[in-house]
Parts: sequence; structure tokens; C-alpha cells
Amino acid sequence: MKHEFLTHATREEAVVFAAGMAAGVLETAIEDSGRASLLVSGGSTPVPLFDRLANTRLAWDRVTVGLVDERWVSPVDAGSNERLVRHHLLTGKAGAAGFVPMKTDAPTASEAVADRAMAYKPHCDPIDLILLGMGNDGHTASWFPGSKGLKQAMHAEAGVIVAAVDATGCPVAGSMPYRLTLTGPAIVDSDAAILLMFGADKRDVFEAALKSDPAEKPIRFAVDGLGPRLTVIWAP
Ligand code: 6PG
Repeated sequence: MKHEFLTHATREEAVVFAAGMAAGVLETAIEDSGRASLLVSGGSTPVPLFDRLANTRLAWDRVTVGLVDERWVSPVDAGSNERLVRHHLLTGKAGAAGFVPMKTDAPTASEAVADRAMAYKPHCDPIDLILLGMGNDGHTASWFPGSKGLKQAMHAEAGVIVAAVDATGCPVAGSMPYRLTLTGPAIVDSDAAILLMFGADKRDVFEAALKSDPAEKPIRFAVDGLGPRLTVIWAP
């Protein structure tokens, strides 16, 4: 059984659909267990989705939001995923949600792994809904092809949920190569996942990834592991 690939005519329509689906998944999780975890990616693609979700009616006080990955920069830096989420998702109605940061005062991402694993564990047991993105190099989360730590992150042992990655030299990671990321098992064990992508380039990269080695196009690892629990939502 494989993922579903949904095509929408416009990005706006894709966002409306993704927000409705996300709210439905979270609502069901809250009905079933009284709480829900929502783990989100950074980057530019999810911004309109965050804006829409922030104004969606939901028992947000029962939801804990966390990050799929984080750049090792200050939480007030323009490149910080925490900053993005605080500005676009944790406002309006969703302001009532809890938030678990990935960035800490630890000097390096590697030194924060044990502490963040403890903080994230209760919300990854399993994750109710994960929002993934994909870069033009085929990375998802901070699984950058050719990065140091990729193998350990993607192929972590069961129960290991956070890993550090050094993406120095990986073009898409640019000036923010030091990352903390959820691992392979944390992501593929999620109850539900949405991959939101825009543009023909990304659709082509995604299609190529389905025939590629996960070490070269790491999104493939998430696609294979999640199978039918993954919904890909795409618009031109
Ligand atoms: C990050 C992300 C990353 C992102 C992709 C897509 O912090 O870099 O979580 O995995 O989802 O790079 O980014 P865009 O949406 O900006 O293309």
C-alpha cells in the first residue's frame, strides 16, 4: 500500500484542503485520547497552511506543537523554525496550543540531542500528525543528501527520536548547516503525515525520488516507511 498523491489546481485550494485534513486528524486524536501532537516542518511552503490553521476552530489547548527539524540558530533569527511557528501558527485560536522547542542553550546541536529526545518523547509516541516539506535536493526534515549524520538520523534505532546533522556543503542547507531533526523511526511511525509541495520542480524531484536510493533522495525513506499513512498534497 502506498501514499496518496492529491493534485489541486491552485496553492490556495491545496492549503484549504491540507488545513481541513490536519484539523480532522487532530480532532479525532483528541476525541480518542484527550490530546494530540502536531509536528511541523519549517521552510516557506507551510506558511499559508500555518496561517489558516491558526484560525481554525479546534481544542488547541489539547494540542502540543513540535518541530520536525530546527536550524541551530537563535530563536529570534530569521532562519529559525521556532520563530516561524511562533509567528504564523501559535497565534489566533492556535495560540492556546503547547509548544516544545528544539533549539536550546546548548552550544551545539549534538549536545542538545539527549535533552531534546526527553522533551519530544511524550509527543512522539507515536506522533498524531506530522507535516513534512521537501527541498529540491530531495531532503525532508533535516535529512540532507551527503550530510554528516544522515545515516544515523534516518536509520536510528527504534526509540531514538532526535538526531544532530551537519549539512556543511549541502547547497540547500546554505548558511544554516547545523540541525537537529526527528529520526527515521520517529517520522515513519507517525499515525498520519501530510507532505505539502508546490511547483513542477518539486513534483519532478518527488517522482525521481520514488526511483532513487534514500541516501540520495531522503524523502524516499519517509515515503516508503509511511506508506498509506502519507498524503501528498501538491499544486503547481
Ligand atoms: C527546514 C525544513 C525542511 C523544509 C524543506 C522545504 O527547516 O529546512 O523543515 O525540511 O521542509 O527544506 O522547504 P521550502 O518549503 O522552503 O521549500
